[in-house]
Amino acid sequence: MLRVDGVGKDFPTRSGPLAVLRDVSFDLAPGNALAVVGASGSGKSTLLHLLGTLDYPTRGAIELNGVDPFALPEPQLADFRNRQIGFVFQDHHLLPQCSVLENVLIPTLARKDAPADIANRARQLLDRVGLGHRLDHRPAELSGGERQRAAVARALVLRPALVLADEPTGNLDRTSASAVGELLLELAREHETMLVTVTHSAELAGRFPASKTMDDGRLV
Ligand SMILES: Nc1ncnc2c1ncn2[C@@H]1O[C@H](COP(=O)(O)OP(=O)(O)OP(=O)(O)O)[C@@H](O)[C@H]1O
Ligand SMILES: [Mg+2]
Repeated sequence: MLRVDGVGKDFPTRSGPLAVLRDVSFDLAPGNALAVVGASGSGKSTLLHLLGTLDYPTRGAIELNGVDPFALPEPQLADFRNRQIGFVFQDHHLLPQCSVLENVLIPTLARKDAPADIANRARQLLDRVGLGHRLDHRPAELSGGERQRAAVARALVLRPALVLADEPTGNLDRTSASAVGELLLELAREHETMLVTVTHSAELAGRFPASKTMDDGRLV
């Protein structure tokens, strides 16, 4: 369960604190997905950074499966993030010198306790996202949609509780974008993962079980 309660975020600026998030509250259960839409600059990425524990809220509380990540000391927080949270960014952020399979295995490198069959799991996931025949390709040898599908596999390889996607289809043509969006939704359901996706696509948001708009620092 993801619980977000009265979360606010101010950024210090030269003209004083800028309140980007004022009061964001929602709950998300395993296997459920939320689409976040809203104008440019409304705070969608800021919210995703907080959910991903990449930045701290100024006010309010975030709890993931009963844990307040911000109460953890930094090494445990990094471990928590690696274990519990998967990220898909607008630009795939794949490492150019690594193969598709190696890229998907990157989050597992930091884990001493990664399962012995993790490479098999990565292959299965790559099969599932339609890249079973591209394991040895470098990112430059993939199409844009294929790169994003590799990034989806990488986000899921450690079976995180929460997957966060910030405009994962923003750089894709419409057909590839809906394929990647649909895939994220399907995988979240199959793996009982919580999914929060920021998107500018009303079509993609419409396919989510819930969709909220960021407006004046609130999710409505
Ligand atoms: N570190 C920061 N310091 C000061 N202001 C910031 C900082 N990060 C973001 N902002 C401001 O917060 C607001 C929200 O930014 P954010 O990136 O969350 O918007 P967004 O909804 O993701 O927009 P987009 O759709 O363009 O990606 C913006 O007005 C931005 O200028
Ligand atoms: Mg953004």
